[in-house]
Amino acid sequence: MRDVAAYARDLVQRAERTLTLTGAGVSAESGVPTFRGAGGLWKNFRPEELATPGAFARDPRLVWEWYDWRRRRVRECRPNAAHLTLAAFARDRGPARSCIVTQNVDGLHAAAARHAAADDAAPPHEATAPLELHGSLFRVRCTECGARRDHADPIDTSSTEALPRCERCQALLRPDIVWFGEPLEDVVLGRAIARARDANVCVVVGTSAVVQPAASLAMVTKRAGGVVIEVNPETTPLTPIADVSIRGTAVEVVPRVFA
Ligand code: OAD
Repeated sequence: MRDVAAYARDLVQRAERTLTLTGAGVSAESGVPTFRGAGGLWKNFRPEELATPGAFARDPRLVWEWYDWRRRRVRECRPNAAHLTLAAFARDRGPARSCIVTQNVDGLHAAAARHAAADDAAPPHEATAPLELHGSLFRVRCTECGARRDHADPIDTSSTEALPRCERCQALLRPDIVWFGEPLEDVVLGRAIARARDANVCVVVGTSAVVQPAASLAMVTKRAGGVVIEVNPETTPLTPIADVSIRGTAVEVVPRVFA
């Protein structure tokens, strides 16, 4: 692994522009459960009962209970060496040359960006904040008027009446997360595709690469003539198109490639 990681490091360090696409695996060593594989969330829970607009319309209390449980779990987790290394790399390179696109809703890349920005006279962390393709556990959105806001407080799920409501129109608030069957935000996806097209190197860390359109971002880089590097303990559907595959965990590999 040492040689292939050194080769990947060379590609990344020499690249004019990089894009890093991350999935649940980058947060696994912070204690955030992944979705698929042993111990994955979708082994114990059925997505259609918890992560669809229909599920929320049927039983908003059940859906909020599940998200409240995930929020409480994630709140106890801290960015790991992979998040911190990627944030320091993004800070040092600047937003024009480096971009993190994540499918994760745990906010750990953003927490790492704040940590990196606090270090010295770095650009504001907003500039190097990740593009969150699937939303955030710690934001809510109104089911009627669409207003969004940050919301990190515990959710009272004791009854449907107690669930959080919009300050403007009093309709139910829902997690600001892209559920199965819903499209991604046009603006966020458009920016991610543009960055993937411009990137000389796309590094894919800790995703099973089965959820579209996120997984296809690596293909966008590849088709535009860029290089794809994959970091994952397992093979994925992206492995055949990867120019470099590094079998290892995010915490083992990312610091070797990006630091
Ligand atoms: P998955 O749970 O599908 O895949 C996690 C990937 O991380 C697998 O390929 C693992 O082999 C790998 N992995 C596990 N531990 C790792 C570690 N320590 N270091 C590096 N890699 C590791 O998660 P995602 O691909 O992110 O969507 O899932 C994509 C989307 O499906 C999620 O964003 C979520 C889910 O349904 C929404 O919630 C909208």
